Amino acid sequence: MKIISIVNHKGGVGKTTTTLNLGKALTLIDKKVLIVDIDPQANLSQSIGVENPSTNIYHALCEDQVPPILSIGDHIDLIPSDIDLSEAELKLQNEVNGYFRLKKMLADIDATYDYILIDCPPSLSVLTLNALIASTLTMIIVQVEYLATKGLKTILSLIEEIKENLNPELEVLGLLLTQLDRTIIRNQIAQQVKSVYSGKVFDTAIRSNVSLTEASAMNQDIFTYNPKTAGAEDYLNLAKEVSNE
Ligand SMILES: Nc1ncnc2c1ncn2[C@@H]1O[C@H](COP(=O)(O)OP(=O)(O)OP(=O)(O)O)[C@@H](O)[C@H]1O
Ligand SMILES: [Mg+2]
Repeated sequence: MKIISIVNHKGGVGKTTTTLNLGKALTLIDKKVLIVDIDPQANLSQSIGVENPSTNIYHALCEDQVPPILSIGDHIDLIPSDIDLSEAELKLQNEVNGYFRLKKMLADIDATYDYILIDCPPSLSVLTLNALIASTLTMIIVQVEYLATKGLKTILSLIEEIKENLNPELEVLGLLLTQLDRTIIRNQIAQQVKSVYSGKVFDTAIRSNVSLTEASAMNQDIFTYNPKTAGAEDYLNLAKEVSNE
């Protein structure tokens, strides 16, 4: 079982979109998947129509309750979040084991999942640290734009620090370029990222594709919304690349 944190402390780069659509794509190549929302914004849960779940990840992390596991399709389940989770930050920060709560929670979960994907908030808070400590791998989402690499050093050195001190298993699976388009400038930026982080960037990049936004507005993943889109094609290619790693 591989546990992958989907991270970047920069907001709006495509973490949630990737968690849902990579998760769904992995099921299309016969993997069993759990997606975990550990963001108090709860965008992942909302993007598939799960609003205000009565029990959510907050209760599992802070009150030792059994985490709710909702089936959201064939071979794909969700542990939802809610705004409650914002209260968890202070609580967990002040507890000795507060950084290990997610690891403990996932240890009790069905070992038949092939992949667990964790959608992180846009911060390096105690919640993101919980995710990194619970994971075997990280995927760093990089939106192709001016100053795309700004902040990457921060997250890469945090990952290194966690690996050295708290989670020796942790590896960087790769950097995923998102919102690539045909403009020369974005292609130059993509090349720059690839040359600086050579060997770490996935061959598959996610193109800019408005259908991805439309799908989430309809509470659907891209394959259910329209499988004949660039977004569906890219996320399926990414799933194949991830499963070959
Ligand atoms: N490849 C893409 N092409 C076009 N739009 C995209 C693409 N990926 C994501 N988006 C859109 O960009 C917005 C931000 O994406 P998303 O919510 O996945 O980012 P995020 O990193 O999870 O944000 P946050 O940091 O707030 O959690 C959404 O409206 C989403 O639909
Ligand atoms: Mg998000």
